[in-house]
Order: sequence, then C-alpha cells, then structure tokens
Amino acid sequence: MRADDCFYPLRQKAEHLPDFIAWAIGQDPIWESHFGFEAFEIPSEFIELEPALSELNKIWPIGRLGLLKVDGMSVYDWHVDQHRLSCVNMLFSVNSMSHTLFGTQRDHLNKDVVELLYEPDTFYLFNNQVLHTVINLDSPRYLFSLYFEQEKDYFELKDLYNGRPQELSGNSGRPEDDRGADRASGD
Ligand SMILES: [Fe+2]
Repeated sequence: MRADDCFYPLRQKAEHLPDFIAWAIGQDPIWESHFGFEAFEIPSEFIELEPALSELNKIWPIGRLGLLKVDGMSVYDWHVDQHRLSCVNMLFSVNSMSHTLFGTQRDHLNKDVVELLYEPDTFYLFNNQVLHTVINLDSPRYLFSLYFEQEKDYFELKDLYNGRPQELSGNSGRPEDDRGADRASGD
C-alpha cells in the first residue's frame, strides 16, 4: 500500500479556516453526534473563501463543511466509511500526539500501516475506503472535513484534480484489495 493510495495533499494551503476554527472552538459551540465523532457545521462560504477548496469545488462540487472532534486519550477504531468514498481533511490539532493510520491486513493478527502525518494548514484528499483509524493520545483533537455533493471514488477524484480525463484513468494504480464499484453501494 502506497501513501498516495490513501491520501494526497492539495496544492494550496489553508488561508482562513485555521483562524476560524480557533475562534469557533473558543465559542464553545454545540456539538452534534456524527458517526461516533462530535461535529459542528462550518459555513459553506468557506468553500469560496479558501483557494484550495474553491479550486476543488470547480472540479467536483463540495456539499458541506464541518469540524470533527475526538476525545482525548481515545481510539476511533479501524473502519471503512459506510457513506463516504473520499473527502478532504485538514488537521487543526497538528501539535497533538495523535496518529492517523491506514492499514492492510497482513495476517489475522497484523496490519501493515501507513501514517498520514498532517502538515499544518494542509488539506488532504482522503481515501475513506481504505481501512483507517485515529489514535489520540492527547487532549481533544479537532479535524476539518467535508462531504462532496456526490460521492466520488478517491482515485478518480485524484485523477480529476491532476487534470487527467476520466476516460483515461482506467489504470490509475489502484491497490489490489480495491473493490471498485461495489463500494458505491455501501457496506
Ligand atoms: Fe473514517
């Protein structure tokens, strides 16, 4: 499993969202439960305000933005997202002791893993259909994330982002365990 089968940094850094997130957390917002995370919605105006998101939105329209929180000293267990094929994440809590790992099963007790070491103010395309986990050995951890208007396969989205036409993207280096179109129907 290669790192860019799992995540891929966007070209432009965040310019406005980190300040907004810092401010919003300070306002003690109301969190809602969302697939085992606590979440609150970020105004969709940031799609146009953030150059990285604005560029991506022209390629594949973005639906909703949000901030996700995981508690301190907790693990969000290994999973494949049921409702998302791909997304974009940016870690706000970059100096915290937390780990985002992607894994493939080596045998019944072991996984081989790749770590996403989030750089500050950096958005990543994220392959939600590779097994992943978050290990948070610190205080609460905050992550910016989003939903696209329509779900899109990670590899197809990465090709679109890099200007490769869909028709030519048949052999895009998918890992052998990829289940392709079956995933669109959910697990
Ligand atoms: Fe996930």
